[in-house]
Amino acid sequence: MNALLRILSLPVHLLAKVPGLGPFVKVLSTTVGQKILMALTGLSLCGFLVAHLGGNLKLYAGEQSFNDYAHALHSLGPLLAAAEVGLFAMFALHIGLAISTAAMNRIARQKDYAVKETKQGVFILPNGGASNWMMLTGLLILVFLATHIMDMKLKANPGVDYSAAMNTEKIVANEYHAVKAVLSTPLNAAIYMVGLVALGIHLSHGVRSALQTLGINHKRWNLLLKLGGILFAWGIAIGFMSLVVWAMSYKG
Ligand code: HEM
Repeated sequence: MNALLRILSLPVHLLAKVPGLGPFVKVLSTTVGQKILMALTGLSLCGFLVAHLGGNLKLYAGEQSFNDYAHALHSLGPLLAAAEVGLFAMFALHIGLAISTAAMNRIARQKDYAVKETKQGVFILPNGGASNWMMLTGLLILVFLATHIMDMKLKANPGVDYSAAMNTEKIVANEYHAVKAVLSTPLNAAIYMVGLVALGIHLSHGVRSALQTLGINHKRWNLLLKLGGILFAWGIAIGFMSLVVWAMSYKG
């Protein structure tokens, strides 16, 4: 286990030793620096989620409205491709930093225990508990994302019948029907619901924690910030869940 943790935190330690890479790598080699970057990437991903939910809520406005939106997005061409590369880099960085900080924290804790000879367990509540939930829910979101990209972006889920969305050349031409087909497949709907509950839990803690890391923290406002984080998290999760329920009960 120790060896694995050391291997996971190796890239940051190695980069920190490269001369000339400047203070950025130095900051990144500390857990505090990594946490700041993790907070910034996490909040940027929240921005993406707001935009993504906003776009997908157009499903409620009907076939024409959603297809116009999807086609307008696709017509951005290279601009969309660049945004997608940035988005995936953001996801990769956020996940990489989560693994690295967890590994560094655990190594530091083990050293600490060795010095203090404490009998305390490896997981300390409440913070240790919360971060374990963050890892588990993060992993579930990752599994959901892999399914989601296969379903929606690649339109390659063998369990989904895309035929209602295809034109005569058997190319998916109607995004509205493609999304409806994906969300109304029972196994998929279940995977989406589990992924979205995980997203709600992850963001409930993550948003507040990110703001705290960035110093947005005041005794007078803490309760409001905490409630705001929870409301935001479940607003996003329930917004997406409503689309699954809509597709499952769609009769058009
Ligand atoms: C019911 C819920 C959701 C629906 C209906 C939905 C719908 C879609 C659609 C239609 C696409 C394909 C866009 C395209 O063709 O370019 C897409 C892509 C994507 N979705 Fe979702 N989405 C949902 C939830 C989520 C959630 C919760 C996340 C993140 C945790 C997410 C992350 C992504 C990403 C990263 C892409 C790829 C973006 C791109 O390459 O353009 N989606 N989604």
